Amino acid sequence: PLPNAIFGEGRVNSAGVDLSDPLVREPLLASLTKLQGKRWSAAPTGGGSGDKCSIVSPFDTSLVVGEAIWASEKDVDRIVRSAHAVQVEWDQLGGEARAALLDRAADLFEEHREELFSLCIREAGKTLLDAVLEVREAVDFLRYYASEARRLFTGATSLPGPTGELNELRLHGRGVFACISPWNFPLAIFIGPVAAALAAGNSAIAKPAEQTPLIGALAIELMHKAGIPKNVVQMVPGDGRAGAALTSHPLIGGVAFTGSTDTARAINRSLANRDGPIVPLIAETGGQNAMIVDSSALPEQVTRDVVASSFQSAGQRCSALRVLFIQDDVADSMLEMIAGALDALSIGDPSDITVDVGPVIDEEAKAALDAHLAELGKPIAQLELPANAKRGHFVRPTMVEIKSLADLDREHFGPILHVIRWKSGELDKVIKSINSTGYGLTLGLQSRIDTTRLYVERNARVGNIYVNRNQIGAVVESQPFGGEGLSGTGPKAGGPHYVARFATERVTCIDT
Ligand code: NAD
Ligand code: ALA
Repeated sequence: PLPNAIFGEGRVNSAGVDLSDPLVREPLLASLTKLQGKRWSAAPTGGGSGDKCSIVSPFDTSLVVGEAIWASEKDVDRIVRSAHAVQVEWDQLGGEARAALLDRAADLFEEHREELFSLCIREAGKTLLDAVLEVREAVDFLRYYASEARRLFTGATSLPGPTGELNELRLHGRGVFACISPWNFPLAIFIGPVAAALAAGNSAIAKPAEQTPLIGALAIELMHKAGIPKNVVQMVPGDGRAGAALTSHPLIGGVAFTGSTDTARAINRSLANRDGPIVPLIAETGGQNAMIVDSSALPEQVTRDVVASSFQSAGQRCSALRVLFIQDDVADSMLEMIAGALDALSIGDPSDITVDVGPVIDEEAKAALDAHLAELGKPIAQLELPANAKRGHFVRPTMVEIKSLADLDREHFGPILHVIRWKSGELDKVIKSINSTGYGLTLGLQSRIDTTRLYVERNARVGNIYVNRNQIGAVVESQPFGGEGLSGTGPKAGGPHYVARFATERVTCIDT
């Protein structure tokens, strides 16, 4: 975790946890051991009438983490109507009061961080390091969007009045925002859009991924404990059907979605076909992320950054590196170093602090990744799985050479790194082939040549470019995150244009 940093007007990003300090680490590990037996639950706000299901650990499917009740269509309708009924009052509360409640929620997330870490590990299969980073990002979203509520929603903006009139612009909530999230950031991306929607004066309905409802339920409980009224922020656990019931509801005033490109398309169609107002869709979707390495790059740095970008979080980050373009005159030696570093990773129980790579999320993800591996050629390097991996969903972290990006039909969301060699003088071809995927999320560049960096910056159609570092772990407010094209609509999460997109604008003109 990064050290404390100060942003904006005295706002401080969360300090995280220094896992290298035994005085911090050992008591934390003891608390996490105690929390291992705890059973959690999730249900639609106000109770649910849908199916019941057990949530098991992706590391070991015999370990039950808790139980969830899915929201039926009837539950979704009740929740949307009750959220709609309180929205104007919440909007009229004003930016400062809403910000104070979001700040209080951030404090509570920090107070309850051990439970949140435990759920990240047990329900989502995250390593402890990833769990720490996840809680930290969630806290940063809450505080940053609170500061945005103060900046944007505490008064009117005066506009020029050329004939002596007074012109004032104000931002307001749009209504009920549906916030639909994926399992791979079950806390940070679950709560970030909810916090932004609330900051802007909307009521918010959070729909967690079906794999990770329990941590979402605890997050919503903490939001209520902070004083945000129960009907203003609500939760609808369930699978895609609950999401579809939300997005087709005529009282929904906007949708913030993070997940796959295919689901974003389905939501777009659903919004187009329903009755009710025309509303915005904010969609943050998948990527086919590349890193370009040229012969001026530092081999040790490339090795460290490639391994972190591809295999941290078992490759289950939308930002993760999928395709390494490596200049052919340095390829053999650098690939040998990366293979050595891959070989040194440990894979297994994510609650073990020495483990670098945990499981993938579920059986379906494992089957899709294993099928992809079976279609590829002989790997350059591939990690063995430990004996205890048999009870969970583990995929062997793999580095494999392919001929061209056209060999990959879509995003493969796991610990598989594809490698393509490129020839000196053909950087333009590399950029063209990256752009031709239609995705545009992250791009890594390892080069010490300024003209190369400038060329890449000017020509690559991607949301986040990372130069001489890894390409994961965008920091709230410092590296606003999000892509373009098939990777999403923008605005960037954690950036200065995000919260305003959840609002509607009203102008008053007063003739004096
Ligand atoms: P997914 O699209 O399968 O599911 C995401 C959410 O949508 C879940 O809550 C799901 O229940 C819901 N859903 C499914 N069908 C729906 C429908 N018809 N209507 C409404 N909601 C529906 O994605 P996933 O497998 O949970 O997440 C992994 C994907 O998310 C990857 O593609 C990854 O790249 C992407 N992702 C993107 C970002 C980003 O910021 N760009 C961040 C994290 C993850
Ligand atoms: N914000 C996350 C990252 O940058 C997705 O890895």
